[in-house]
Amino acid sequence: MGLLFSQLSAHVVDAAIELELPRLIADETVTVDELAARTNSRADVLVRVLRALVALGLLDQVSPDAVRLTETGALLRPDRPDSILSYVQLLTPSSVLTSAWRRLGTAVRTGNPVFADIYGTDFFDYVSNDVELADWFSASMRQGTLPVAAAVSDSYDFAGHDVVMDVGGGDGTMLARLLATHDHLKAVLFDIEEGLGEAARILAAQGVSDRCDIRVGDFFVDVPTGADLYLLKNVLHDWDDERATAILANCRRVVPDGGAVVIIEALLPESPDSSVNPQVYLSDLNVLVNLGGKERTLAEFGRLCSRAGFDLAAVRPIGSTGKSLIEARPVRSDGRASPSRVRK
Ligand SMILES: C[S@@+](CC[C@H](N)C(=O)[O-])C[C@H]1O[C@@H](n2cnc3c(N)ncnc32)[C@H](O)[C@@H]1O
Repeated sequence: MGLLFSQLSAHVVDAAIELELPRLIADETVTVDELAARTNSRADVLVRVLRALVALGLLDQVSPDAVRLTETGALLRPDRPDSILSYVQLLTPSSVLTSAWRRLGTAVRTGNPVFADIYGTDFFDYVSNDVELADWFSASMRQGTLPVAAAVSDSYDFAGHDVVMDVGGGDGTMLARLLATHDHLKAVLFDIEEGLGEAARILAAQGVSDRCDIRVGDFFVDVPTGADLYLLKNVLHDWDDERATAILANCRRVVPDGGAVVIIEALLPESPDSSVNPQVYLSDLNVLVNLGGKERTLAEFGRLCSRAGFDLAAVRPIGSTGKSLIEARPVRSDGRASPSRVRK
């Protein structure tokens, strides 16, 4: 029962966001009557939502009729640099993304995503035609990338590379961080037009625009030449094995001898494990229903890489981000492995 009731919590969070409670409370202690006035709600009903939010750990009950945001609740404020609001907006029950979950059974029967059946177009096309959703998507990718970018910067020896290309790199958050930390690096940000979002602004804000080219293109058609390190972060899990192999094969065509592809993804345990945070299993089903993609075990990444002409050179978890860094190097004709640049 607890499991099923927990999905109702998401509706409470959805309502809190719709009523803009995190923004309205901000860092104040606010009475129920004040909040009812600010949200144009009935105080006797609002108080019931507030009680639930206290029970869920998003609000503190400061006095019988006043509340404030907890540390977790404050992450839903839109004005914080570490806000997770856009991520939450993408995953609330009223979101386009979660509506596909209602047809998980169909996806299981067919093996195909159900997003296009519902919305008449595939996920990335839909996002590019919905300005608000595109903003949330891009902001949530940025929010998820910030801690990973900081940790990747320390987990990998970039000194041995000159030009890094982020393939499907979105708004450039990862590259902005890498360039700001490694003065010698140049970079190429590669994505479809709609994926690039605020890239120019984000790179400029870090003062690294002069070292980063922005290239528009389709990684199923080709991946540009010119880099010796290719990054794929949260890209392969969007696609089935055939399409993920096609992306890797396009990277293989352009990566030079001594170059590498670095894949950054959450890894599924090799066998189901109830001690693991179930998020990775739910994310696996989320990419299934929306995109036809999948999360993968290391062995599955190994098979993909091998089909595309790469050896797995190294793998290591990236700090406490829940992601792993997988380094793939071109299979050499002499059969010898190039040295890994993953830091021990
Ligand atoms: C899940 S997002 C990951 C973005 C970024 N790498 C990150 O981790 O924050 C997938 C990215 O792939 C891009 N993408 C989707 N289809 C593409 C295509 N055919 N060619 C190039 N990029 C594509 C999307 O625009 C998006 O930026």
